[in-house]
Amino acid sequence: MAIEKTTDAVVLVGGQGTRLRPLTLSAPKPMLPTAGLPFLQHLLARIGAAGITHVVLGTSFKAEVFEEYFGDGSKLGLEIDYVTETEPLGTGGGIRNVLPKLRGDHAMVFNGDVLGGTDLGAILDTHRNRDADVTLHLVRVGDPRAFGCVPTDADGRVTAFLEKTQDPPTDQINAGCYVFKREIIERIPEGRPVSVEREVFPSLLAEDARVYGHVDSSYWRDMGTPEDFVRGSADLVRGIAPSPALDGPRGESLVHPGAGVAPGALLIGGTVVGRGAEVGAGARLDGAVLFDGAVVEAGATVERSIIGFGARIGPRALVRDAVIGDGADIGARCELLRGARVWPGVTLPDGGVRFSTDV
Ligand code: GDD
Ligand code: MG
Repeated sequence: MAIEKTTDAVVLVGGQGTRLRPLTLSAPKPMLPTAGLPFLQHLLARIGAAGITHVVLGTSFKAEVFEEYFGDGSKLGLEIDYVTETEPLGTGGGIRNVLPKLRGDHAMVFNGDVLGGTDLGAILDTHRNRDADVTLHLVRVGDPRAFGCVPTDADGRVTAFLEKTQDPPTDQINAGCYVFKREIIERIPEGRPVSVEREVFPSLLAEDARVYGHVDSSYWRDMGTPEDFVRGSADLVRGIAPSPALDGPRGESLVHPGAGVAPGALLIGGTVVGRGAEVGAGARLDGAVLFDGAVVEAGATVERSIIGFGARIGPRALVRDAVIGDGADIGARCELLRGARVWPGVTLPDGGVRFSTDV
């Protein structure tokens, strides 16, 4: 029987999404709207398109939100099970914790915050052809320091796993997708936090287990920071990032039903305008992500920023490389730049924050 038919998917979605605060105070990271859908839906659609139909979500932080939205998965053609950690067990502990739900001899495990276009079937082929204990999807990135650095030998066998090292020996990193033999999952210690990156992989390598890398140059982005979230969202809108969950032509912007865009507003760079959101005359939105009900008033500029549910950007305000929490109210002519984060519900008076003295 083809390995696809006997393989379960496990998606780790229990992290707190701290780097995306304050947006993740109200929603877990994988549920943040991305090109109009909860981010996780893009990943689930890829899993389904690869022929894997049984998915186990390993939840912890805001666990209930996932089941409320996806239910039993049947609307997506999937069968979804949920396993919740009352105390977060880490990435390895999360994998061990779903063991009772696994049905096959192999499981494909995903970090729940990766936007990618890799051929999942090809990773399974590598796993089978190598008769591997674990196969890791690897990609090359410009700066490997924020990731797990994974050197391989000429045969594709993994020689080390160095999580977030300041001195990476290669630009090849862990893309957050693995195929595990069931026996290997059975050996992860139970009932305590375990990091797959810092504990499971290094100990497998120390005992010479068959750990292989599958390297490719597919689209890949970890959505865990505001910069990456904004880029990934824009790439989905523009069709640079693939997603089987999106159909129809893609363009410079995506305006959802019930949103109002005044004449003369400019929407470019993969901007998303959520349901019921409003954009005023002469506003300029470049790579902006407006969650549902957000308002950008006339003449305001929003660049590469996320505007939370129901937040308002006042007339002629400038928001660039910033995150505005749900329901925040940014007064006219305010300037919020370079990594500014405004907490939910905060009100800034007109002209209340400026980076320049001209008014
Ligand atoms: N169930 C569960 N329990 N899930 C968790 C837990 C936990 O305690 N902690 C984190 N997760 C989930 C997160 O929700 C996320 O989907 C995934 O595990 C990875 O966690 P991140 O916090 O996003 O890790 P990272 O981005 O810093 O690094 C990881 O991903 C990189 C690739 O995107 C590592 O696996 C790196 O090695 C890798 O390069
Ligand atoms: Mg991540």
